[in-house]
Order: sequence, then structure tokens, then C-alpha cells
Amino acid sequence: MKKIAVLVSGGGTNLQALIDYKLTSGEIALVVSSKEGAYALTRAEKAGIKTVTLPRKGFIGNYSEKLAQILSENNIDVVVLAGFMTVLDDSFCKAYKGRIVNVHPSLIPSFCGVGYYGLRVHEEALKRGVKITGATVHIVTSECDGGPILAQKAVEVKAGDTPETLQRRVMEEAEWVILPEAVEKLCEDL
Ligand code: GAR
Repeated sequence: MKKIAVLVSGGGTNLQALIDYKLTSGEIALVVSSKEGAYALTRAEKAGIKTVTLPRKGFIGNYSEKLAQILSENNIDVVVLAGFMTVLDDSFCKAYKGRIVNVHPSLIPSFCGVGYYGLRVHEEALKRGVKITGATVHIVTSECDGGPILAQKAVEVKAGDTPETLQRRVMEEAEWVILPEAVEKLCEDL
């Protein structure tokens, strides 16, 4: 069993999908939130998972280094970014090379990179008028959203979609499906 840390900043629906999937090759040993009071923390507590809050806002010093220290103290093997809104530095990415995954709410290489996160991604997809969008799970490297792709799933954009309705469909049909499957596979393969 690989020991997994899930890093979150918000509602934690992807964390919930990982909890509900009941992984067999890994266990969620730790949830770290970059935001105080994030609902993801409540989800973790309800599932009996250890939580740590490491607020990004106002943090003085090297955030990635502090995070790496916490993960190492907890003997973490695999890191899952599930709506984690902080970019990790080069030495963090190198320390966990091939063992960090991220879920992104578009079909990379569309609508990704610096500044593309959360609802913004769906706003831009609607603005561009794409008819198909989706989600991507990829390995994290120091290039933002640039690492090797592990899984993708396409989702239809429908007439009358708002960023919120599109975000919800992409989560339900793609993110919550491909993220747990990709994490299971990665834990198996490591
Ligand atoms: C998800 O849609 C995830 O793909 C996105 O933030 C949302 C978090 O929701 N992540 C990014 O945009 C990363 N660039 P959640 O907290 O309910 O899982």
C-alpha cells in the first residue's frame, strides 16, 4: 500500500471521489490544505483521515520546502493535487519526481498553464466556443500543467452552459472518474 497525501484548497469533491473509490493499492494517509477552513478538510475528517492546514496566504519562507518536510514526516509516497491552487517549486517536483499527479479541468494542452485554474478554465472554454472540453490527469513537473498525461476524458459543452454548469459536468463525467483510476494505476505501478 502506497501512502498518499492529497493536497487541497477548496471544496474537495475530487478528494471525495478518491475516498469513495476505495483504493486498493494505496491509502490516503494525509490531507493538506493551503486554505484554512476549506470544506475538503471536513470531508477528510469525516473519513477519519489526518489533516494539516498550511495556509498559503501570508506564508513567510519557502512554502514548497515546508510542505515537503510535512510529507516526509508522514512517509508519503504519492502526492495528489486535487484542486490545490499553489504552484510547487522545482526542488519539490524533483524530490517527488513521477509521484505527483494533478487533475486539470480541460483537455490539455487547451486552457492550461499559468492563470488557468478552477472556474476560469471553463470561462475561457465557453468564451472560445469549444464544443468539447474535458479533464486531464497528469504527472506534475516544474512546467505548469506540462508533465506527461496519464488520462483524459472528453465532455460535451451544451447550449446555454454557464461556467458553473460546465464545471459541474466536467467534474461528474470526467474528473471524479479518471482521477481515482489514475491514482490507483500509479500506486500499482510504482
Ligand atoms: C477541480 O475542477 C480541479 O480540476 C480544479 O479545481 C477544482 C477543484 O475542485 N483544479 C485546477 O484548476 C488546477 N489547475 P474540488 O476542490 O471540488 O476538487
